Amino acid sequence: METKIFSEGQIDDAVKLLAAGELVAFPTETVYGLGAIATNEKSVKGVYAAKGRPSDNPLIVTVSDAEMMAKYAKEVPERAQKLIKHFWPGPLTILLFVKPGSLPSAVTGGLDTVAFRCPDDPLTHDLIAKLGSPIVGPSANTSTKPSPTTAQHVYHDLKGKIAGIIDGGEARVGLESTIIDLSVANPVVLRPGEITPEELSAVLGEEVLINTGKVSDQAVPKAPGMKYRHYAPAAAVMVVDDAKDFAQINFDETTGVMALDSELAKIAAPKENKFSLGQNLVDADHQLFGGLRYFDDKKNIKQIFVQGFSGSEATLAYMNRLNKAAAGHHYQAK
Ligand code: TXA
Ligand code: MG
Repeated sequence: METKIFSEGQIDDAVKLLAAGELVAFPTETVYGLGAIATNEKSVKGVYAAKGRPSDNPLIVTVSDAEMMAKYAKEVPERAQKLIKHFWPGPLTILLFVKPGSLPSAVTGGLDTVAFRCPDDPLTHDLIAKLGSPIVGPSANTSTKPSPTTAQHVYHDLKGKIAGIIDGGEARVGLESTIIDLSVANPVVLRPGEITPEELSAVLGEEVLINTGKVSDQAVPKAPGMKYRHYAPAAAVMVVDDAKDFAQINFDETTGVMALDSELAKIAAPKENKFSLGQNLVDADHQLFGGLRYFDDKKNIKQIFVQGFSGSEATLAYMNRLNKAAAGHHYQAK
């Protein structure tokens, strides 16, 4: 299958493909998503096949506005209304009870909840509004690989497997949306993102819990995707929590390093094995997945040392993704 690249003026072509049951990747402010009409079971199954995704890992339902969402939610509690008013369109995914029978079970993985997201991207808003139906929206990468932050990343992973990609340029945030569960007594963040628990708590006027990890030991994990190997490049990844430890590491042609410019300048390593995470944490969020992909294309690299961050809730999303990429491996200072 030929994978077409669509630009801003070609949204109608992408709408036609989706309406016909085809798969089309779309831009969002977080990462690129892989779209298929959410009410078409066959198309939704095609998304799992194209990504190589385990079938018990449910998909986000991407809507153009809260009105569209309401058709698929059992109810829209006041908490959800508050968050939608404040954060949508934006990088917040809200977990609610699904309206029974409104979506194929392939979307929800058989759970009684569904995750709703309304991205802040004009092309994708236009796409869904014109289609008149929600689209599923997992990240548009091959399962286990870093999420795509450019149309080129999507093309690299899925060319020949999907009908099209809408090129909306580089994703602004670079890490996936915050997921908040509102189907439980107390709101819980299941996946950290740009919007922090603190910000959610301020809008809700109540405590917001965080549970991004321990899911694999639960019978029915709350965010099934969190239990799978993720963001894993070909090389082994090691988190360097304290940047001054970079000085202890011997870099050679088999090692890569990803760090802020200020640290990178002090490191003696071959230039092509250094990847800049930019000037600050916001840049690092934006660059993390691109850096992991950069080293995937360099077959000589066996290990990648990546700068870690700590000290505020704003680091939660970055460290969550990095820890998964590193399978929990942190550099131990000598
Ligand atoms: O920023 C994002 O959210 C991106 C863009 C494309 O919108 N999408 C994304 O989708 O990250 P995905 O499928 O890669 O990650 C969604 C996560 C998975 O870990 C999945 O298990 C969880 O959300 N999830 C989806 N539906 C759920 C449900 N009903 N209950 C619990 N977790 C759910
Ligand atoms: Mg994903």
